[in-house]
Amino acid sequence: MREPNSILIIFKNNVEINGEQTKEILFVQPKDKSKEVWTGKRLGELGAEIILEIETAYSNKEFNTTVFNFDNFDKVYHFPKQNDVKDNVFDKSDLHNLYLQFDSKIATINANKNDENKLLEWMSKLREIKSPEELYLMNKAISITCEAQIELMRALRPNMAEYQSEAIIEYVFKANGAEYPGFPSILGSGENSCILHYSTNRKTMLGNNLLVSDVGAEYHGYTADVTRTIPVDGHFSKEEKIIYDIVLKAQLAGIKECKAGNSFWDPNVAATSVISQELQKLGIIKSPIGVRRYFMHGTSHYLGLDVHDVGTYLPLKANSIITVEPGIYIPEGSPCDKKWWNIGVRIEDDVLITNGQPNILSDCIPKTTEEIEAAMKEKGLFSIH
Ligand code: GLY
Ligand code: MN
Ligand code: MN
Repeated sequence: MREPNSILIIFKNNVEINGEQTKEILFVQPKDKSKEVWTGKRLGELGAEIILEIETAYSNKEFNTTVFNFDNFDKVYHFPKQNDVKDNVFDKSDLHNLYLQFDSKIATINANKNDENKLLEWMSKLREIKSPEELYLMNKAISITCEAQIELMRALRPNMAEYQSEAIIEYVFKANGAEYPGFPSILGSGENSCILHYSTNRKTMLGNNLLVSDVGAEYHGYTADVTRTIPVDGHFSKEEKIIYDIVLKAQLAGIKECKAGNSFWDPNVAATSVISQELQKLGIIKSPIGVRRYFMHGTSHYLGLDVHDVGTYLPLKANSIITVEPGIYIPEGSPCDKKWWNIGVRIEDDVLITNGQPNILSDCIPKTTEEIEAAMKEKGLFSIH
């Protein structure tokens, strides 16, 4: 249910607002036939009370004039305004204005009653642990993303543009009911495989390029985030396979650490240690400290309503989902044999933490070099071979 331009106020105990005793008030866009013909149906106040089972719902136009006496409370917990909230100058009750109106309501309360940090802390804790309904939506977002990655493997061929691979990914997202990509799709080939959050996606892909495909479908607000690295001509070269297999070994070592009770950072430590040792064996780095030149990010973040979702970063808990995504990126000009230059590899899976073994939710996509090369020989929706 999407009800934009709403604000929810929850009280610890019943309070009297406009002569009514209540513990929660949701201000929503009122029903308005002339507006709904442009932007779609609204729940309205009555719909919010019946369908969302909110105790009291008012029109958001009434928020400004509703008196709350916030100074009578011990604490007022709230979110500060997010910087992606834009002002719709034609709507005096849009989210931007609701924030301004709320700010003016609390402007005069005692400073020690005003807390804009705690709520985020509580929500982070709640968002870290997924309910069964959230797990259903996450599984759906992830399985759509898996399907898109597989379809790309089947279609990829030299001289396609990066944006054409992006089009295939996002076609499969939409065709399977995902509303959006959860973040700008990253399709970086050749030298662009070494740019971590590349999303220009304009280059023509050459046969000797690797393509880093880091994408995630968003389904009903929940996003996946899965990376595969694919050889554009269907075959990993000797050097590409060597680097790829190190990243894979690091990723499997990281995933092994994804257990309830382990530190959030254990997967990162395990994966970094593998990459460090293996790059030293190849002579690409001389000492453990050199690993950060070629693996310059962490392995994990929480995943959920946001791609880099909030969480506590305390020891891992059952029913949270994190990514495990080590990589090695060796741009041209790096201080190593130039046979390694322009090889960029990242492998990313979405892992459900359980009280037992880690559950790799994105496990249905080919991952070893052999599996990827085999998938690239299959016929798919977009293959011309
Ligand atoms: N797709 C962004 C990330 O992997 O964190
Ligand atoms: Mn990613
Ligand atoms: Mn990620």
